[in-house]
Amino acid sequence: MIRTVILVCFLLQLLTRAFVHSQDRNGRQVWPVPYRRFDRRPEADSYCQALYPFCPTGDPDGRIPYVRDSDIISVFRLQTPVWEFKYGDLLGKFHIMHDAIGFSSTETGKNYTMEWYELFQLGNCTFPHERSDKDAPFWCNQGAACFFEGIDDMHWKQNGTLEKVGEISGEQFNEMARWVQEDNETGIYYETWTVRSDPGPNSTVWFESYDCSQFVHRTYRKLVELGAKLSSKTQTNYTKIYLYSGEPSYLGDDNAIFGQPSMKTLATDIKKFYHSFRPHQSVIEIILSLLEAYEKVVLEKSFYLYYNFEYWYLPMKPPYVQITYEEVPLP
Ligand SMILES: *[C@@H]1O[C@H](CO)[C@@H](O)[C@H](O)[C@H]1NC(C)=O
Ligand SMILES: *[C@@H]1O[C@H](CO)[C@@H](O)[C@H](O)[C@H]1NC(C)=O
Ligand SMILES: *[C@@H]1O[C@H](CO)[C@@H](O)[C@H](O)[C@H]1NC(C)=O
Ligand SMILES: *[C@@H]1O[C@H](CO)[C@@H](O)[C@H](O)[C@H]1NC(C)=O
Ligand SMILES: *[C@@H]1O[C@H](CO)[C@@H](O)[C@H](O)[C@H]1NC(C)=O
Ligand SMILES: *[C@@H]1O[C@H](CO)[C@@H](O)[C@H](O)[C@H]1NC(C)=O
Repeated sequence: MIRTVILVCFLLQLLTRAFVHSQDRNGRQVWPVPYRRFDRRPEADSYCQALYPFCPTGDPDGRIPYVRDSDIISVFRLQTPVWEFKYGDLLGKFHIMHDAIGFSSTETGKNYTMEWYELFQLGNCTFPHERSDKDAPFWCNQGAACFFEGIDDMHWKQNGTLEKVGEISGEQFNEMARWVQEDNETGIYYETWTVRSDPGPNSTVWFESYDCSQFVHRTYRKLVELGAKLSSKTQTNYTKIYLYSGEPSYLGDDNAIFGQPSMKTLATDIKKFYHSFRPHQSVIEIILSLLEAYEKVVLEKSFYLYYNFEYWYLPMKPPYVQITYEEVPLP
């Protein structure tokens, strides 16, 4: 009897653990599905090897210099086209931008750049690897914050933006630095896609992206919460990569899908789906692959989204995939 009760409790616990993160008290699904935070960032798997080292000029332990509370720190909005989109007409219609924040200390004259990006590049965060020694698709999808000394004015100014958007005190800067460390420890993976129901202004957002621009928005919100006032003379637009779908359904994590013989059909479908989008080295290749995949998505009206290390089924609908450059006002 007691054993049965314990077993039932255990099963209930498992069930609530599986669902609690994205359902409200009445068991209704909460949209957008909250991005999962972790207690701490794990080491990346040694299978994931960066072609370009992550944060080469940052402090190896991610330390952010302490400034005097009385210092005045200028805050800069930094934006530049991902370099493949800087020159020439190829895919020139897409504004694929990278976003960052700059800081400059009045007392020391030193300045700093802070950005959040993929440890193993965008392709690895968007599409998984097929490994002969693993049943499940394998993701190298960590992203992290990088803080380093210097602002390369030319890099940001050329076809991009370098604009002072406010001033904060040294005290506010130090508090922000503590928050960045915590955000960096607990938000560990990159998510390329924003998934919503349609392009209209009242659409339901099913999943939010978690990328460089979301980090910048989070930081701005934190600064405003700490008392900063931010303003821009120009429209503040950001790149969004959208998928459009009807209400998503939850499928399960790697163990539930790839560890169960009863799920073999689904497991095979997911692998087949990602087979056509193997990771690529350049952003152009990713865009080309997306356009290729577009046909597949339109034809089959299906997308298997990986979010919070779990798979979801998206019943895709027009316009399926969109890359926009749209305004997100400063908080
Ligand atoms: C993507 O991950 C694979 C596997 O670790 C690695 O070989 C490749 O260099 C990574 N790509 C980039 C651009 O870092
Ligand atoms: C964020 O985490 C990465 C990966 O562990 C680390 O390299 C980086 O220094 C950290 N950045 C900050 C600002 O803490
Ligand atoms: C950052 O510092 C460098 C070196 O002193 C300087 O050339 C650059 O103009 C500064 N940029 C900003 C935005 O303060
Ligand atoms: C970007 O800047 C470079 C150099 O200033 C210029 O040659 C190029 O035409 C610009 N590209 C766009 C798309 O404006
Ligand atoms: C969106 O919702 C608002 C508030 O409910 C409403 O006033 C507006 O007309 C809606 N817009 C569209 C395009 O449905
Ligand atoms: C910036 O976004 C606004 C509204 O989202 C849009 O109307 C405008 O065309 C965008 N600017 C550029 C340069 O794309």
